[in-house]
Amino acid sequence: MRHGNFEPEPDTRVNWQIIRHLVPYLLESRYRVGLALAFLLLAKGAILLIPFLLKHLVDSLEGQSVQALAPGLLLGLVLAYGAARFSNVFFGELRDTVFGRVTERAMRRIGLQVFRHVHALDLDFHLNRRTGALARDIERGTTGISFLMRFFVFNIAPTLLEISMVVGILLYNYSLSYALITLASVLAYGLFSLRATEWRTQFVREMNNADSASNTRALDSLLNFETVKYFGNEDFEARRYDRELEKWELARRRNRLSLFGLNGGQALIIALAQTGMIGLAAWQVRDGEITLGDFILINQFMIQLFLPLGFLGFVFREIKGSMANIEKMFELLALSPTVVDAPGASELTLQGPRIVFDRVNFGYSRERPILHDVSFTVEPREKVAVVGTSGAGKSTLVKMLFRFYDPDKGRILIDGQDIRQVSQATLRQAIGIVPQDTVLFNDSIFENVRYGNPLASDPEVEEAIRLAHLDEFIRLLPAGRDTLVGERGLKLSGGEKQRVSIARTILKRPPILVFDEATSSLDSKTEQAILAALREIARDHTSLVIAHRLSTIIDADRIVVLHRGEIVESGTHEQLLDEGGHYAGLWQAQQRKEITV
Ligand SMILES: Nc1ncnc2c1ncn2[C@@H]1O[C@H](COP(=O)(O)OP(=O)(O)OP(=O)(O)O)[C@@H](O)[C@H]1O
Ligand SMILES: [Mg+2]
Repeated sequence: MRHGNFEPEPDTRVNWQIIRHLVPYLLESRYRVGLALAFLLLAKGAILLIPFLLKHLVDSLEGQSVQALAPGLLLGLVLAYGAARFSNVFFGELRDTVFGRVTERAMRRIGLQVFRHVHALDLDFHLNRRTGALARDIERGTTGISFLMRFFVFNIAPTLLEISMVVGILLYNYSLSYALITLASVLAYGLFSLRATEWRTQFVREMNNADSASNTRALDSLLNFETVKYFGNEDFEARRYDRELEKWELARRRNRLSLFGLNGGQALIIALAQTGMIGLAAWQVRDGEITLGDFILINQFMIQLFLPLGFLGFVFREIKGSMANIEKMFELLALSPTVVDAPGASELTLQGPRIVFDRVNFGYSRERPILHDVSFTVEPREKVAVVGTSGAGKSTLVKMLFRFYDPDKGRILIDGQDIRQVSQATLRQAIGIVPQDTVLFNDSIFENVRYGNPLASDPEVEEAIRLAHLDEFIRLLPAGRDTLVGERGLKLSGGEKQRVSIARTILKRPPILVFDEATSSLDSKTEQAILAALREIARDHTSLVIAHRLSTIIDADRIVVLHRGEIVESGTHEQLLDEGGHYAGLWQAQQRKEITV
């Protein structure tokens, strides 16, 4: 997926496959599910009793023998009616309570799965993603799953069961017409709902997309708050946001109108069936074919039948909506990262460590190669510097070493092991990096440093802070080391962020160190002090240093000059100066600058 964006094309059918994904979660809690189903049956049983109780009540009250009616029987019927009503609601509540745990557990599991998966996807996915939309998709997806599980288990199947029981009862006790009307209306209702809901899915999708898009726009704009202010573009941003909101509003309106059509059609079908049945029953009572109690019973069954049927329509609609939501999430889960551990990947074993770039070729896209035949070696405990113009591909080298991308051709070896053959976890464990741009978690300075090694003790973190020359700065802060750094670390200066990043790496103490412009934002004095500390730390380490300021890498064992993705020179500082090539030119330019400054 390296060469494309994350823009899944939703297909327009119901994806019943999704149901299959949910089965394991239901099976995992099968006892709970079973208990909930038992409660469901009790609730349904209670509600089926009600029309019969009503019929007997009416019949015994209405006949000529009403004076002779035993008060005990009447009381019994009334109490039974009350008990049935209560049981229906009570068992329904019990069912929801018991089943709640099952859906929550499933939501938690799936939420975690998606989270892990998204972290496993390649850098490219994350560079192309739209965070706001992604978060919305995941949120809607997990909610959708809970909904789907609850209603599939407790509404669709039980309602169908209830309908067939009612049809059976009507057929058994009364004329065929009632059963036929019921059956016909249920079928008409079902077919209509199915078709109309299919048709409506596009509007639901449209609405969700508009929702995600406006969310992305708002988030992006807020993240770039400073830039918006620098350019005085508040109105421009507001207009852009409003354009998205306008689409959202329109999509909502379409969605609502289509809902109106669906609900209207359903109501019409139900009303027709009810009219037919009531009419039929009324005539039969008039002709003395059935009693008033039967009339009540039929009416009651009808209400009880069409209520869940109406609900079924709602549920079906919601299920379709949930499906559309879940689909997005499962598409996300179906994306596979391009960089994965080789089958049976071994652990990286380190002796030196010795790093070899062996004729590495790479481009982010096929059309534009970035690195051509890059070969160089960093011997154990050596410090090798990579220099070159902006955009030459220096940071790309580092990303390749971390295996964010695999070479198109060539290989990268650490102590003779191709990094594609070892597990990513052990590879990344072995390398520490101070990246070109440090972003921090919105947490305290102290915890941000501890991120380098979450198991480190407080004194160890303090030591790293001291070595990175952060302690003086921390002392100046009113809240000290507990100062929050703001989202992405925006409340720290560039140099401060860099030092947090250095402290993190010091704490991690990996055998291989990589510095990508690690001290570029520091003043010369702090830079010198930190470089001294880093030299101390790097003494027993293999290190790869990328630098613009050449004065910081004079002491490197070797300097590799990268120009447009190719190595054009390499050697020590003195050798390269003597050669009088690229490096010598860069050096002279920087010397002149330093003198004039
Ligand atoms: N994810 C990406 N997708 C496409 N192109 C990229 C990507 N990342 C970097 N590039 C391009 O690759 C080239 C090399 O980038 P790289 O970051 O390696 O440069 P650099 O040598 O580190 O430059 P600088 O000194 O400015 O940091 C650049 O032209 C950049 O535009
Ligand atoms: Mg760079």
